[in-house]
Amino acid sequence: AARRKLIAGNWKMNGLKADGLDLASDLAGRLTGAGTVAFDMLVCPPFPLLFPVGDAISGSPLALGAQDCHAKTSGAHTGDVSPAMLTDAGCRYVILGHSERRADHAESDAQVAAKAAAAHKAGLIAIICVGETEAQRDAGQANNVVASQLKGSIPEGATAANTVIAYEPVWAIGTGKTATPDDVKAMHAHIRAELAGKTADPDAVRVLYGGSVKPGNAAELMAVENVDGALVGGAALKADDFWAIATSC
Ligand code: G3H
Repeated sequence: AARRKLIAGNWKMNGLKADGLDLASDLAGRLTGAGTVAFDMLVCPPFPLLFPVGDAISGSPLALGAQDCHAKTSGAHTGDVSPAMLTDAGCRYVILGHSERRADHAESDAQVAAKAAAAHKAGLIAIICVGETEAQRDAGQANNVVASQLKGSIPEGATAANTVIAYEPVWAIGTGKTATPDDVKAMHAHIRAELAGKTADPDAVRVLYGGSVKPGNAAELMAVENVDGALVGGAALKADDFWAIATSC
């Protein structure tokens, strides 16, 4: 099955309103000007920027996503944000179970699955993140860890239309270290095989790579079999770099 590449920018906890508006408007303008492109492009700003950025890029081909959501639709959950609040701001995607959420907020696979189910119910596409730590890789556990995260984090009812998987080896995030194309190829093949039985149409699910993707390594990584795009952190904060990554597909 032909899978259209998704180039997703995770801004993490960076940028104020003026920065976010500049970056998103710049990208939306480039995308509109480029006409037909071989990729979908997505930006995931911090929560306070979702409405202004969503308004600024509304009607453009640039998609909007958030970096987390709660599993409940409303109620007494101070500091949390519901899936419907995200769609209200114009979001089509939400990143779930990023390793930084798993580490900083002790998010479990079960919580990620509950959030993804809630996101699906609200009509959002869940980008479910998985990936091993350096110690786990060194111990030869990378495949097992990722298989177990997939098993626990993908909810019932997941399909290629509502779910994207992002493989992010924790040791490659923000470190400048990337997995080798051979390692990425092996892990993405493993993930593709593990998706059987967990999603309705495993061959059609997009599997992104994330971890120090930069303009200089993007073409090589995006050419790897079963790599269907990138989840980009640091390099997504500069329009030139993010655009260079996308157009290297
Ligand atoms: O979500 C994005 C990833 O954590 C990758 O971040 O590109 O800064 O390594 P990075």
